Amino acid sequence: MCGIVGYVGYRDALVVVVDALRRMEYRGYDSAGVAILGESGVLAVERKAGRLANLEAELAESGTDRFVGTTGMGHTRWATHGAPTDRNAHPHRDITEKVAVVHNGIIENFVPLRKELEAAGVELLSDTDTEVAVHLVGLAYAAGPTAGDFVASALAVLRRLEGAFTLVFTHADHPDLIIAARRSTPLVVGVGEGEMFVASDVTAFIEHTREAVELGQDQAVVITANSYSVTDFDGNEVGGKTRPFTIDWDLAAAEKGGHDYFMLKEIEEQPAGVADTLIGHFTQDEAGGRIVLDEQRLADQELREFDKVFVVACGSSYHAGLLAKYAIEHWTRLPVEVELASEFRYRDPVLDRSTLVVAISQSGETADTLEAVRHAKEQKARVLAICNTNGAQIPRESDAVLYTRTGPEIGVASTKAFLAQVTANYLVGLALAQARGTKYPDEVAREFAELEAMPKLVERVLETGPQVRALARQLAHVPTVLFLGRHVGYPVALEGALKLKELAYMHAEGFAAGELKHGPIALIEDGLPVIVVMPSPKGRAVLHSKLLSNIREIQARGARTIVIAEEGDDTVRPFADDLIEIPSAPTLFQPLLSTVPLQIFAAEVAQARGYDVDKPRNLAKSVTVE
Ligand code: M6R
Repeated sequence: MCGIVGYVGYRDALVVVVDALRRMEYRGYDSAGVAILGESGVLAVERKAGRLANLEAELAESGTDRFVGTTGMGHTRWATHGAPTDRNAHPHRDITEKVAVVHNGIIENFVPLRKELEAAGVELLSDTDTEVAVHLVGLAYAAGPTAGDFVASALAVLRRLEGAFTLVFTHADHPDLIIAARRSTPLVVGVGEGEMFVASDVTAFIEHTREAVELGQDQAVVITANSYSVTDFDGNEVGGKTRPFTIDWDLAAAEKGGHDYFMLKEIEEQPAGVADTLIGHFTQDEAGGRIVLDEQRLADQELREFDKVFVVACGSSYHAGLLAKYAIEHWTRLPVEVELASEFRYRDPVLDRSTLVVAISQSGETADTLEAVRHAKEQKARVLAICNTNGAQIPRESDAVLYTRTGPEIGVASTKAFLAQVTANYLVGLALAQARGTKYPDEVAREFAELEAMPKLVERVLETGPQVRALARQLAHVPTVLFLGRHVGYPVALEGALKLKELAYMHAEGFAAGELKHGPIALIEDGLPVIVVMPSPKGRAVLHSKLLSNIREIQARGARTIVIAEEGDDTVRPFADDLIEIPSAPTLFQPLLSTVPLQIFAAEVAQARGYDVDKPRNLAKSVTVE
């Protein structure tokens, strides 16, 4: 939530900052703003409610002469405190208009700090929690023990703040540096030649450098054009505790590549995402082969000693977690509980040293999931993160990490990350089964070979695109769509409904097909579209035949049945008003295929309704508030 960037270098800072905001806009798009330290020693600020385009239009109209400079910062907002208006847009300035701040997160003690400032005669101009920080820095710089020392003033204020925050401060009298800091929300330094960046994520500066340094908890960094120096909030150097890394993808991965929307590109990238997530995780040996979770720091001995597994996650990642349960329980006979991360720590779950908690998060930043991880660790459980973002907070705080390798996901709706998470779950399940001896090596090898075949099958599902899009356009104006599935088809139904809700703002619900007769069947009326995910006829016959009966029940009551079924499953044909055929796959792996038409469907309905597929209203890609 909120994208922030700071730049010190030799380029036109306004261009650098606006380009960075464009690439980070998926993090929030309630407002955008820039602050540039002009050559005249004046801090030029512009900010505008709404999308970045509004800010750009304002800059184009009012002219950019004031914004000539090589130091600057910017912000794209997902509103928490204060409505998405111009006056609540960042950057905020202190009363001298020399200090500016941009912020991601929530300053939880802003109420007493605000009162303190008001008592000191400071007039606050916004409803945000952020503004207190900039006034406090301004006051600390004006008088007292840190007077005249910008960095010391900022550090003194950071020590007083509570909550989760990434903050970037500039000062008009110190145009050669920027100070930034983080607690529980992300901040990376981009290390260029003669230029430095700070940003919420690396997409902000990937065009200029692939060398980055990730800051740890409660660390601050001062950047100049040629240096960066990391300290704790007391100003002590923490050089050895930072984590330099080289970004292993390039600008092209963060661009749309000829597609109208990132989401459409990301749907097409799914075969590669699944394949890349599997790479290097299996080695052949005499016994048949082994799953290797190379980023994993959990020994086989530990994997053997776990007596239960919890999966915690939010949104689509939670749906991926629901799928993990089917695979892990089936392969290992370990009980698996799947829980919404936002609920987990409030109900006192039974956790101990022999519990494995799997935390799934694309961003690695989601506050609910992070808090669930912290709770699990407090209770001595071992935590394995499944994450798509190198070095994000959740993997950092976990005992082990398995990265999904699907590149940056920019569209707010999770697509390729979801499929990669599901794939990673299978790796975890197979690794557990292997360590615990619930599967023979040759069985593990066979499952892995089936998994390796999945990317080609996902490619074939993408070929259903034209049919699915035509269907979506026909249904773009219905008020409700229901989704049904059984077994692994049930989480797929939930995921299909979530995609439609978040992208097309359409009422959509996913149900376990067997639950229908316990209430929801009352919703069925003439012409209501119901999308049904059929299990493989080659899997458990009982599953298939039960779902067939469910389709007949709803069709008899007038529903329009849209059925996703395996090629050659002729039994379903008479009951499908529309049939979307997907290739045959092992039952547990079928979600990697059946989810894809639902993603395409939601994106097309959203487009037909005239909505921005990448930036649905009220949402942000990384949810860093609870
Ligand atoms: O980054 P995370 O995987 O932790 O994010 C979790 C959810 O916020 C995310 O999956 C969300 O539900 C997506 N918008 C769904 O498409």
